[in-house]
Amino acid sequence: MQISDSPILKAIHERRSVRQFMEAPVSRDLIMTAIEAASWAPSGLNNQPWRFAIIWDKALREALAALTRYANILQSASVLIGVFLDKENSYDYTKDCQAVGACLQNLLLALHSLDLGAVWIGEILKNKERVIEILKLPEQLELMAVVAVGHPAHRNQKSHRLPLDKLILLEK
Ligand SMILES: Cc1cc2nc3c(=O)[nH]c(=O)nc-3n(C[C@H](O)[C@H](O)[C@H](O)COP(=O)(O)O)c2cc1C
Repeated sequence: MQISDSPILKAIHERRSVRQFMEAPVSRDLIMTAIEAASWAPSGLNNQPWRFAIIWDKALREALAALTRYANILQSASVLIGVFLDKENSYDYTKDCQAVGACLQNLLLALHSLDLGAVWIGEILKNKERVIEILKLPEQLELMAVVAVGHPAHRNQKSHRLPLDKLILLEK
């Protein structure tokens, strides 16, 4: 089987972090479609601990941009998606963080498949409490990432992965 035979394998391989966006507006329907796909991630006991904040408002985007050294990425994105762990819906912190990670990957792949560009911003977590305050969200939420989304300015992003012989420790 070749990568091109499977749309999922193709999306996994072709998705890249996009950090430069065009000014063109992003359709709300596409964002909802991507978030719905994100919500189909697996979670322990199917507890679905992820929650989302969708931020279109320019002033709010500016306020969040000020909390990270990746301000320029947040400023140029059309929309930001805050992804949170709902600690009141958590049964095991490690497993719930893993579930939110799976949800984030679904989100990135879904956005890619909808021809949108996105990047997972983790650096802003150093100010995660401030994000909750600025968005006026309850303290039971813990920020896991902000995903910056827009129409890609270009598709020249390159990345690399370690070869499998460096990753597979054991095969018996
Ligand atoms: C937990 C996590 C945190 C990340 N934080 C940032 C970030 O703060 N800023 C950024 O530009 N990219 C961030 N990234 C994106 C990575 O830099 C990117 O996924 C990696 O370099 C591989 O490139 P690719 O996504 O194009 O394959 C983060 C990714 C993950 C999974």
